[in-house]
Amino acid sequence: MCGIVGYVGSRDAVPVIVEGLRQLEYRGYDSAGVAVVRDGTLQRRRSVGKLCNLEDSLRAEPLAGAFGIGHTRWATHGRPSEENAHPHQDCKGKIVVVHNGIIENYLPLKTRLAAQGHKFVTQTDTEVVAHLVESLYKGDLEDAVRRALGELEGIYALVLLHKDEPQKLIAARKGPPLVVGLGEKEHFLASDIPALLSYTRDFLFLDDGDVVVVTPDSVKLTDSSGRVVKRDPQRITWDPIQAEKGGYRHFMLKEIHEQPRAVRDTLLGRIGIEDGEVHLEELGAAEEELKRAKRVMLVACGTSWHAALVGKYLLEQVAQVPAEVDYGSEFRYRNPLVGPASLCVAITQSGETADTLAAFREAKRLGALPIAICNVQGSMITREAAGTLLTHAGPEIGVASTKAFTAQIVALALLALRLGRLRGTLTNERCRELLESLARVPHLMENALAMSGRMDDAAKWLSRSPNMLYLGRGVNYPIALEGALKMKEISYIHAEGYPAGEMKHGPIALIDESLPVVALCPRGRVYDKMLSNIQEVKARGGRVIAITFQGDTEVGKVLEADRDLIFDVPAVAEVWSPLLMVLPLQLMAYHTAVRAGRDVDQPRNLAKSVTVE
Ligand code: AGP
Repeated sequence: MCGIVGYVGSRDAVPVIVEGLRQLEYRGYDSAGVAVVRDGTLQRRRSVGKLCNLEDSLRAEPLAGAFGIGHTRWATHGRPSEENAHPHQDCKGKIVVVHNGIIENYLPLKTRLAAQGHKFVTQTDTEVVAHLVESLYKGDLEDAVRRALGELEGIYALVLLHKDEPQKLIAARKGPPLVVGLGEKEHFLASDIPALLSYTRDFLFLDDGDVVVVTPDSVKLTDSSGRVVKRDPQRITWDPIQAEKGGYRHFMLKEIHEQPRAVRDTLLGRIGIEDGEVHLEELGAAEEELKRAKRVMLVACGTSWHAALVGKYLLEQVAQVPAEVDYGSEFRYRNPLVGPASLCVAITQSGETADTLAAFREAKRLGALPIAICNVQGSMITREAAGTLLTHAGPEIGVASTKAFTAQIVALALLALRLGRLRGTLTNERCRELLESLARVPHLMENALAMSGRMDDAAKWLSRSPNMLYLGRGVNYPIALEGALKMKEISYIHAEGYPAGEMKHGPIALIDESLPVVALCPRGRVYDKMLSNIQEVKARGGRVIAITFQGDTEVGKVLEADRDLIFDVPAVAEVWSPLLMVLPLQLMAYHTAVRAGRDVDQPRNLAKSVTVE
């Protein structure tokens, strides 16, 4: 949602903070700001809009600081403006704070503090924290912050400093992520790992309730009761270059093309073609309990929810275990009946999505075995799960998820295969066949991605379309939903995914020559049905973009060469076809958004990780 960076040490704090914010801009980019202290003088600089505006301001009027904090904002309370940009300060300009999250009781606190004479200058909830700490400050910032935290309700990742307590940052976490970067005579704080990879690979991950006091020589970590806790640092092996664009015009395009490697890395070490088995030792003891699972409850949000829906089909087809899928934001409000031997699988790229975390915790509270499928080592959900299946997609910077999505499907495939073997519902022979087919997918994806050059034909047409309809069946129905979401979130075209069989129950009324219809038509059990749906669209003058397997001879016969388009991908076992069918849809959304002049990596109103409910 927002990006936070803090620095104490001997470097000039401003470039460290700004570079860190640049790596975090994908988390929100409504405004940005820094506050640094040098020789007892606190200086703040803030700009509305993207980080480049703050950089321009700093170039025009440079700032230097021995220590400081910075923030890039995704607005929750108070419109995007310089005044509402973090860091926020107290009345005397001695205490500054940056915040990710929502202070739910900020209004009563603001009323009380204003009555005590505090002057508020912003519409934000965060400013209350600066004044509350000021009202409790008696010369010890750590003490004042601890007491203030006792009065805050809501969720927060906070970092504060006091200009009279040099080279010290106080940070607290309850919900949104916060990591401590460990250096030599210097330490860092940030919302996420990529912000600090240029400076360190050693991190401490804060838990809910933790408070940390950071100086150049020390990191004092305490839990919610104030007890000092020792936590092992984690070494992050990501290569900082992986978090760069690598010559591509956008992170999203780079990440689309990284999918073969992401799938290969997620399979690596987990599939045994020779023994026809799947090896998921990282699930630890939880794997033993998997055997007894009678049902699987999948919880996720957005694109990860689409992966979860593919997972439902895989679990039921491959492992013959009943599976249900819930939006994280819906699950705990429907009074879920979590019977014995229920498995809850949360699918989340960031591991920090508030709605998914809340659903996961509720399922765990109700007795389900909590398993996470996640792309970020050390993230909150990985620390609350009984077992985690990490996807190895590498850092995903583009707000629109692509490589994490296909890696999630692969992780779900592995889980389904393993469950099938553990439950005895999948023979070793069939498992070997499916593994052989799955192992070929990275190569087939590389072949499919070569079509990228032809996608601009579709983009020319689609960038002028105000609406679109995506149709799919069976295991590719979730892919129709995902293709529509990709188009929506980066090109701002209203696109709707639908089960193709449902079209005749309403959406067919929309069909005319102005509504592009994308139809997913791989060979398989529902191929003929999909072919009929395409004919229904054509019979009403509709225009179709069909996605088929290479070598298909039927679909072209029902399309018109001058009005319709076909993109084909290599053939693969139907159960794995979502991994191929989604690629043209990702490229279609990307090229359409570029042609429409959209900000592909940082679409308006969005953020990479939604850490508020
Ligand atoms: C995907 O393109 C979106 N950016 C969004 O729907 C995302 O999938 C969703 O917010 C869930 O995020 P998570 O996987 O980190 O939990």
